[in-house]
Amino acid sequence: MQLSIIVPTFNERENVRVVVERVEDAMKQATQDYEIWFVDDSRDDTPIILEELANSHPHVHYLHREEARGLATACVEGFARASGKYLVVMDADLQHPPELLPAILERLQRGTDIVIPSRFVRGGSDGGLNGFRKLVSWTARTIGRLSISRIRKISDCTGGYFGLKRTAIEGVELDPIGWKILLEILVKGNYQSVHEIPYEFHTRDAGESKMSMREQWNYMRHIVRLISQSPEDRRFYLFCMVGALGVVVNLVVMSLLMYGLHLHTMLASVLASLVAMGHNFLWNDKVTWKGNAHPVRWRRMLQMPVFMLISLVGIAITALFAQWFHSLGWSELLGQCIGIIVATAWSFVANNRFTWRT
Ligand code: GDD
Ligand code: MN
Repeated sequence: MQLSIIVPTFNERENVRVVVERVEDAMKQATQDYEIWFVDDSRDDTPIILEELANSHPHVHYLHREEARGLATACVEGFARASGKYLVVMDADLQHPPELLPAILERLQRGTDIVIPSRFVRGGSDGGLNGFRKLVSWTARTIGRLSISRIRKISDCTGGYFGLKRTAIEGVELDPIGWKILLEILVKGNYQSVHEIPYEFHTRDAGESKMSMREQWNYMRHIVRLISQSPEDRRFYLFCMVGALGVVVNLVVMSLLMYGLHLHTMLASVLASLVAMGHNFLWNDKVTWKGNAHPVRWRRMLQMPVFMLISLVGIAITALFAQWFHSLGWSELLGQCIGIIVATAWSFVANNRFTWRT
């Protein structure tokens, strides 16, 4: 079997027949083996229609789930049952034109691992969403692309229409929350090449969208989980947490030195900062950049001094911002805050590049 088309359905009684017809028409010219797998969680009579379709069309199959719900897990179940070498996921409401199937398949057969019809490359359009949904969709995509490096270059990473080689998910544990199965695959999958082809996302033929606030919340949960599971993406958050912990250590040590040992303020402050720097270095070495010790042995000795140098540059950056705001007659504290943000970004990038060399 060359191609398995997986179609998740939830209350799509008006659409499933047309999906089968349009897929058949589209695949006629491609003359390739294919099957359609509907994975259905409907509460209406969609499964009855699917049963009829499966009986009258040898290449149509369906699975009805009573207990489970959710678009992404439906796709995972579809992958497990499908027998195609290539897999395509497509919505049942014809907002994803089946006419694109031969082009997707051809591209996969020519060697691309993941093919994504995109609304946002030249020639594509997002006409099927109203203004508000467009804004929500843009925000979701931007959050995803900012937080997860593997999807940064992909214009339509939140769409529900895509094709892949089965090998891209073989042995991969897919455990998505909510709708975005493509995100899960892009983050965890085994693939080298991704290609996007333009398509026009039209308005729905019949029935209504099942998108809801709950799914948007699920999307955020899914993103957070993907970040926490991806070593390169969670690094920045760990770095910030270590930094925040370092501030607490700094203040505690300073109090001990000043009130316990009665050291001079200036000396207590400098010692406290040095202890905090050492603390931050150790946590970053053991946790944030775990497994990224410098490959060259003698360079490992230099990691701590390099880290300290980078931190000192960060302090200088912060001071320059405070001074700059002062000279403009603006709040120095605001300048200090902005300086801290810039310095954090600087030291993360610099440590990533020089201290732990990733
Ligand atoms: N099995 C199953 N279970 N299917 C579901 C469920 C569920 O809980 N919820 C929705 N579906 C099915 C719908 O029946 C439809 O076939 C498909 O998933 C998409 O649902 P829609 O309600 O049509 O979503 P949309 O049009 O608002 O958004 C879709 O298109 C966007 C653009 O590609 C989704 O695919 C979005 O993820 C996508 O961004
Ligand atoms: Mn839809």
